[in-house]
Amino acid sequence: MATLLVNAAQVVTCAGPLRARRGAELSNAGILTGAAVAFEGERIAAVGPQDALERRFANATRVDCGKAVVTPGLVDSHTHGIFGKARYEEQELRASGLGYLEIAAKGGGIHASVRDLRGRSEDELFELALPRLRQLAAHGTTTVELKSGYGLSVEAELKSLRVIRRLQQALALRIVPTFLGAHEIPLEHRESPRSRRDFVDLIVNDMLPRVAAERLAAFADVFCEPGVYTCDEAERILRAARCHGMELKLHADELESSGAAELAAALGATSADHLAAVSSTGIKALGAGTTVATLLPGTMLFLGRQRQAPARALIEAGAAVALATDFNPGTSPTVNFPLILMLAVSQLRMSVSEAVLAATVNGAAALGLAAETGQLAAGLAADIAVFDIGDIRELPYWYGDHRCRRSWARGNACHG
Ligand code: NIG
Ligand code: FE
Repeated sequence: MATLLVNAAQVVTCAGPLRARRGAELSNAGILTGAAVAFEGERIAAVGPQDALERRFANATRVDCGKAVVTPGLVDSHTHGIFGKARYEEQELRASGLGYLEIAAKGGGIHASVRDLRGRSEDELFELALPRLRQLAAHGTTTVELKSGYGLSVEAELKSLRVIRRLQQALALRIVPTFLGAHEIPLEHRESPRSRRDFVDLIVNDMLPRVAAERLAAFADVFCEPGVYTCDEAERILRAARCHGMELKLHADELESSGAAELAAALGATSADHLAAVSSTGIKALGAGTTVATLLPGTMLFLGRQRQAPARALIEAGAAVALATDFNPGTSPTVNFPLILMLAVSQLRMSVSEAVLAATVNGAAALGLAAETGQLAAGLAADIAVFDIGDIRELPYWYGDHRCRRSWARGNACHG
């Protein structure tokens, strides 16, 4: 039985090639008026003029959108959604002048989340994640990437990834799992270069094979940043991950440039993320390669940094720019993806169509899913969001608001 969405003010299709969009391709999000969307089972059956679809799908269940805007479900391609407690106390420490990496050096930051997560059971972490993911979905996200990375031991990383697997089974939301065992060097391995090397060995020789054997992750990621992992360490870990069949991501040039964007491009990683401090050679490398440049403006805003990723220079260089929330307890505790679109327009100087395509088609490309989701077109997954606005330009306008009325992921009710 088909479902037909009618009476939309606009249907924003994002339709086009089933790959990341670049340059001028980002200026057309495909806005239709007088259009309807039909889906049957998990797939979109048709998008087109409402009269024609009403005749063709005369027996469909009609959903009256009440002059709202219909878009592809948003694709949030970078989150750290598996964690225990919140870390609100660090916000005041930063306000008093302490830097993000200084807090980490004192055993706070990621280390605080690691201590906390190690002490919790799989069931507890599952129960904590469920309402957080429901809130992500409530803002229009129908696909979300979830990273491990607050375990930093074989057992605690596997525990985090098993929680992600249970969430995949429990929710309509599409969830893409990423292994981020290299999120930090745990405190017990920071005393000497030797013990630091032991931890990289542990990731390569113990964690990756176990993660691969249980098929727990589609991607592997490394926090490549001065003070955390070097480019050489990141390269070793990512090459090993690839041998285990995982695709690659990289936290690259977030706070300081260290050649991480160049490394991501050279490795043919699926995405290089953050990039607030990317160098001009990094911009060129991403413009020339296939790696999606995923920008996370909520993080820089929350950390109180003046600098944002150079979105305009990246787009002009030909890079495929995506946007994501970076939802995590330390640097971006927001589940509100439309709020990130507002930051893309106001802080990164992206146009509305660039921001919308970056949060849909290009987010999907950042997860290797551009042929599956991110657009409203016949044959793609029925991943659809309905927003209580009359014009797509309102999505990055009512900032902090909650406008998603309902959504479907693979044809199943995801929100509302
Ligand atoms: O993407 N940069 C590294 N990881 C996260 C922050 C993690 C944390 O502080 O808990 C990020 O910003
Ligand atoms: Fe991150």
